[in-house]
Amino acid sequence: MLRPFEWKSDHLLLLDQRHLPGQEVWLQLETVEQVAEAIVDMAVRGAPAIGMAAAYGLVLAAQRGHDRAAADALLRASRPTAVNLFWALDRMARVPWEAPALLQEAIAIEEEDRAMNQAMGRWGLDCLPESANVMTICNTGGIATSGWGTALGVIRTAYENGRIRHVYACETRPRMQGLRLTAWELMQEGIPFQMIVDSAATSILARGEIDAIFVGADRIAGNGDTANKIGTFMLAVAAERFGVPFYVVAPSSTIDPQTLHGRDIPIEERAAEEITEIEGVRIAPEGCPVFNPAFDVTPHEFITGIITERGLHRPPYVFTAADLA
Ligand code: MRU
Repeated sequence: MLRPFEWKSDHLLLLDQRHLPGQEVWLQLETVEQVAEAIVDMAVRGAPAIGMAAAYGLVLAAQRGHDRAAADALLRASRPTAVNLFWALDRMARVPWEAPALLQEAIAIEEEDRAMNQAMGRWGLDCLPESANVMTICNTGGIATSGWGTALGVIRTAYENGRIRHVYACETRPRMQGLRLTAWELMQEGIPFQMIVDSAATSILARGEIDAIFVGADRIAGNGDTANKIGTFMLAVAAERFGVPFYVVAPSSTIDPQTLHGRDIPIEERAAEEITEIEGVRIAPEGCPVFNPAFDVTPHEFITGIITERGLHRPPYVFTAADLA
């Protein structure tokens, strides 16, 4: 099973996703500052993986006798949209500031995520015909989670059960998580797929051959509005136009019942260079103005179903703290 990181007794080994698929580089993270930097710079990315990395970051901070509040604040400031980060930190905050206890909680979070991924995979089978063509965006696989995946986990489980004929995977501008990471994971599994540029999705959906779209999530509001990688909303609009079922797949740690509407989800804006440069080579004119939101919010009315570890939720979506407790 692919894993985004591995805990060693006094450091965290982290697979540096910035170098994939070309090189498999493992970073040896020894401080909470290094973990925060890895999250900011997307050496680790994907909502559940960010949350779990942050949990291990707190273990490192406690081992080294750091101030709890400062470590917590540093990690909270790393990325704003994926609620799994804050969910994991809130959970760790309920544990005494002692490394063994914190480590136990971080391991529990990781193990629970793995179990939730497997459960979502099984629920996802109910959304597919016998031999399905599906579409996805971004990377929602093993390295974005604890080893199996959310949307890609559903696709993996469906493939194991003989239910996948073909996957169309969007390249996912600007950081290319689809082209670099999803392609890498699908090839390792031997799942039949083709990579498409994001702007090819609508014309493929219009051909009427896609049975379902599965996407991940960074934060699901109480009413079902879902923040995910930029381009997801565009897919949902096209899916509705051509009658293709559109499913969000995410563990309940991605649901944020305190945020009632999608309009209240903070959307991260990232550096202009993610668009103006490719692998450090400038392709846009010098001084070119850029707007680079990393996520968009798909309104709940475009979402056919939300798959969590608890099952397939159908509209109307009402997620409350009490439901999730
Ligand atoms: O900017 P990223 O790569 O962290 O964004 C990741 C996504 O948007 C994923 O689709 C989402 O986190 C779900 S990962 C299981």
